[in-house]
This record gives sequence, structure tokens and C-alpha cells, in this order.
Amino acid sequence: TSDHLRHVESMSTLPSGAGRISRLNAVILGDSLASEEDDLVFPSQAFSDQAHVPSPQKYLEMYTRSIQDPAGFWSEIASQFYWKERWSQQVYSENLDIRKGNVRIEWFKGGVTNICYNCLDRNIDSGSGDRVAIYWEGNEPGSDGMLTYNQLLARVCQLANYLKDVGVQKGDAVVIYLPMLMELPIAMLACARIGAVHSVVFAGFSAESLAQRIMDCKPKVVISCNAVRRGSKVIYLKEIVDAALAESAKNGIIIDVCLTYENESAMKRETTKWQKGRDIWWQDVVPKYPTTCAVEWVDAEDALFLLYTSGSTGKPKGVLHTTGGYMVYTATTFKYAFDYKPSDVYWCTADCGWITGHSYVTYGPLLNAATVVVYEGAPNYPNPGRCWEIVDKYKVSIFYTAPTLVRSLMRDGDEFVTRYSRKSLRVLGSVGEPINPSAWRWFFNIVGDSRCPISDTWWQTETGGFMITPLPGAWPQKPGSATFPFFGVQPVIVDEKGAEIEGECSGYLCVKSSWPGAFRTLYGDHERYETTYFSAFPGYYFSGDGCSRDKDGYYWLTGRVDDVINVSGHRIGTAEVESALVSHPQCAEAAVVGVEHEVKGQGIYAFVTLVEGVPYSEELRRSLIMTVRNQIGAFAAPDKIHWAPALPKTRSGKIMRRILRKIASRQLDELGDISTLAEPGVVDQLISLADC
Ligand code: PRX
Repeated sequence: TSDHLRHVESMSTLPSGAGRISRLNAVILGDSLASEEDDLVFPSQAFSDQAHVPSPQKYLEMYTRSIQDPAGFWSEIASQFYWKERWSQQVYSENLDIRKGNVRIEWFKGGVTNICYNCLDRNIDSGSGDRVAIYWEGNEPGSDGMLTYNQLLARVCQLANYLKDVGVQKGDAVVIYLPMLMELPIAMLACARIGAVHSVVFAGFSAESLAQRIMDCKPKVVISCNAVRRGSKVIYLKEIVDAALAESAKNGIIIDVCLTYENESAMKRETTKWQKGRDIWWQDVVPKYPTTCAVEWVDAEDALFLLYTSGSTGKPKGVLHTTGGYMVYTATTFKYAFDYKPSDVYWCTADCGWITGHSYVTYGPLLNAATVVVYEGAPNYPNPGRCWEIVDKYKVSIFYTAPTLVRSLMRDGDEFVTRYSRKSLRVLGSVGEPINPSAWRWFFNIVGDSRCPISDTWWQTETGGFMITPLPGAWPQKPGSATFPFFGVQPVIVDEKGAEIEGECSGYLCVKSSWPGAFRTLYGDHERYETTYFSAFPGYYFSGDGCSRDKDGYYWLTGRVDDVINVSGHRIGTAEVESALVSHPQCAEAAVVGVEHEVKGQGIYAFVTLVEGVPYSEELRRSLIMTVRNQIGAFAAPDKIHWAPALPKTRSGKIMRRILRKIASRQLDELGDISTLAEPGVVDQLISLADC
């Protein structure tokens, strides 16, 4: 900690008002400053004056306390929630050091609570019943809906009662495969209310991926809908669910109840394929249940949800989050990183199928009694101005999105933005991948009219909530830097040997000590949890990201250092794409690497070796891509198939990905030493086929 505190102390002497205008002008005019690191963008005095954390000094005070007295810091915050019984004397207990035994993290153990109660009943009791909880905006402009906190509670209770009635009990898993309808957060909250463990599967995943997750967590019920409109397309989700359930039944996992929401605007029930006995229309049963439902009180360390995410090897991992720490952490990070006030209207463009939608569409905002916009459709439909139309329609004041969307809208031209007022906006947010400084500036200058700070939040499915993030109002920002750690978070940068590096440096990003929102295990595989995250650098949690810290102590994330690719903010394991490719009967071998992509951040670049005698063809290329779409989902489709007569391997047979990355990015003069290859000639062959 001392290292970070020293940095922060030096930062607290930064000029706070002086120089603001000239710096900002320099940024707007694009004058080249000494370097990116020196490029400071200050919040306005008016913004800082009203902010929860108005100065570096205040941040320093709170951060120091959170590190020196985590138990006191977090238990004070936790006391603002409703606990049926308070946690035990010991606020947290942990072991992150595998050399000292099993990795274990517990927060507020013995505390009895319920996160759904804290999102809804507690806020209603304190007068927020008639506040809008959700503004829902449909794919088609003009289709919309809303729910107040009272109405949301009633809907949640009806579904909770239904789930109980069909036998879902505390600790049972429920898989939710829904698009961004209001029913998605409703389903999550209903599970939480009865102590069931939800596992939301992003509705862009294929039948095979869905089946894989169903077979892993063996849910009592699957909740889905018949179809959804996204942009100009209709996606028939029920067909995907049917295929997934057939696949899991083949493997002995039989699902008795498939609760299906009739999404009428996309598809009528009459045309939906139906398996009598198993499939039940949501609208036929759920509204008949009472609008109140007793809460299942759970221990702070009882499981809240499972969310599958990709790693560098093997099948997706079921990241498990528990109740109490996650609740306290998502609520607190939401409040501070977005400087949330009750007068805000908040919109996060993420889908609830990813962690961002869990922590910052559903739980974090609702715990703060916030008004949340949930948007069903594509952000550029029917035109690239849709986001700003929605911002104006609901007077959105906090807008949280991913760099990929910023870059794609930036390409479409400023006029789609500037034709809307956007004057309600006051804070912007970014997540999912590093935001390049030019996209940052466009977001800041054009979307935010140079007056809205950007919270570039670095975090992960595993961390539950923000780890390194600006607190708008506290800090001058540097475009492209996630700035400083959140309260209670101790980032460290280590070298290859796991030694902490101090000061200005770059290396592997790890975290020392636990924080309340940390994941507790990988479902059914605690050993994999320990080896993946805690054994590379013993004593620390290893994030899988590279990072540097500049002379002012700002953190700059540089992307994954493992075999994970980040495509449009979606995390994809190269191993998963490779295994999909080699399942194609004509593919002998495949190696996948990430390459820079103008809009998506990274694109998927696949080297494919065909079975002996099979000729290259356009048709085969399409069929390979189709195989990946069918096995994982459209978002994982390779951008490029590079025919490879052979792959560069070491004499021991290991694929040299370093060389493949250079070939993929056409950095041919940086191939480095290829003399250790079993057959160095392979490299020339590959280069000659690069544009075939
Ligand atoms: O590489 C980092 C990148 O996204 C990874 C986590 O992906 P996932 O678990 O799917 O969660 C995404 C949403 C939290 C990280 O390991 N990442 C996420 N946010 C940022 C980021 N990289 C740089 N800057 C960020 N703000």
C-alpha cells in the first residue's frame, strides 16, 4: 500500500483550478502535449463542488482509511443496508496465499440478508416506491414501458412465487437466457429473493454454449423467451433453447420446466414450437401469483449467482459470487464512480448476460434506488443517433458504455450526436477494454460537450465491481487511463518472477488482499480457481492483464497477457475458438490470436491447417466461420481465416503464438528469432498465404 499512498500523496498537491482552461483547450484543439501521460483533463469546479469525493485530498483520506482499517470502513458502509442479523465480530477473513493453504475469502460471514430485499423493499420502505426503477426502451422507436419500485417488487414477487411453486428452493440453480427485456432483471431479482442461484447466459450464445452451461450447473428451471428483435433482425431464441435442452437431455440433464416469455413484438406464440409439459408461457402463469412473497434470508456468504466466463484454456469457468460482500461492493462502487445522486437517470448499454449487466444494470443501481434505462435493441438502430435519442427521451444523466460502441459511433460522424441536445448528461463511463485516447476525446468532447468526466472503469467478471476507476470530481483525468484504485483495492504491478515493482513501471497487474466483491470460487472447481488466479504470483490475485503506472501514479491497462481475446469488450478464450474450429471435419489444426481491430478493439485471427488433401475454398472458409458461430455465438466468429499448410512449432511441438501474432498483424520485420522452430520454412509459407 505504501507505494500507492505515496503516489497519491504527491498527487494531492496537484494544481486544482489553475491551468484548467488552458489544459482543456489544448485537449480540445488536439495540440500535441508533451506526451499522453502529461495530458490532464480537469473536472469543472462546479462538478467537483457537488461531487461525493470533491478532491484528491478527500480521496486520499477515504482510501487510506479503507486500507488501514478495511473492517471498519466496510462495516460502516454495510450498516446502511438491511441485515436480518448482523455479521459476526470478524468482518472479513481471507487467505490469498496458496502457500499457506486453500484460498478463501469471506466477508460479513454470519450476516443474514437478502439482496432483492435491499434493492426493492428497503428502498420502498424509505419512500422510493413511486420512483421509476426501470425505463424500458424497445428495439423499435416508440415501443417502451416503465416500472416503479412498487411495480417492480410486485412483478418480482409473482415470479418468485411461481418459481417456488415449481419446486425451486434455496441454493438451486436457475438458468436465464433472455434478451434485454424488463423480465431479465425481474428474473434475476426473483431468484435472489428466494435464495436461488441465477446463471444468466448472454442471449447471443449458441445452443451448444447454452447446453454446456446448463449441463454444468444443472438448473431446476430455464427461463427464456420465444424471440427478440435486434436492429432489423429477429432472433429465434426458443429454437436455440430447444436445441440446448435436447443436447443436455442427451447427456442425462433433463430440464422439467422451461418458462418462456412471449415476446409478442418479435414472434407470436402460435408460431412458436412447443414441448407440452415442459414449456410454459410466462404470461399464462406468472401474473396469477400473489404480488407479495416472503423473503428467503440468506447468509452473506451464500451464493448469489454464477456467471460463466472464458479463460485461456479449457471450457468456460463458472465464476461464483456470494451475497453480502457483492451487495456492499456493487452499491458503493456505483455510487462513487458515477457520483450517483437521486436526481440522476442512469443508462448502461451492457447486456445483463455479462457481468456489467449484473453489477451495473441490476444490482448496483437498484441498491441505490436509481432509475435505470434498459434498452432491448441495437445501439445504432434504426440509425447511429439512437443512443442520443434515448438519452434525450429519458433525460439520461449517467451514460455507461464500451469503447467499441464509442469507436463505431465516432466513425458514423458527429452529426448523429450533435443533432440531439444531450444536455442532461453529466457523467460518462467506459468499460470492457482500454479506451484509446482518440476515442476518449471524441466521447468527452463530442458526446459530453467537454463537460462530463469519463469514468474509465477497469474490472472483471471475477472482481464483481470496479477496481481501478476515476472518481469524477476528485481527479484530473488522463485520456486512456483508468486512474486510481477504488477504496479498499490494493493493486500491485509485478515482474515475471512475481516481485512487486514500485513507482513508474509496467508488468503484470495483481491485487493484494481481498475486497468485498471478489469472487469466491469457480463453481465445482476450487482447484482451478486457485491455479488460475492465485498460483502464477503466489500471495496475490492475478488479473491476467498487463498494466503500467506512470510517474504520477496513474494506472494504464494494456490488455490481456494470457490467451484471452477481447472482442468488442467480450472475453473470448483462444482455446474455445480453436476447439470449435478443429471440430470441423476438414480442419486438422487451428491456432487463434487476437489482432488490433479499428472498431472491435481486437479481432479474431485464425490460422487453420486443413486435413490432408482438402483444398482451400471460399465455401470452406464460410463453413469454418459458421462452425464457430454455431458452437460459441456470432460474436466469436473469426474475422480472418489464414490458410496454414503447417503451424510454426518448437521442436517440442509447442505452437509459437508470438510468431503468429506478428504475422497476423503483418509486423513481418519483428518476427524475432525463428531458429528454434522445428521447421523455420513454415514462416515463409505462412507469409506467402497471408492474403489468400
Ligand atoms: O482485459 C480487461 C478488460 O476486460 C477484462 C475483463 O473482462 P470481463 O470479465 O468480461 O469483464 C468485462 C467488464 C468488466 C479485463 O481483464 N477490461 C475491462 N475493463 C477495462 C478493461 N481493460 C482496460 N480498461 C478497462 N476499463
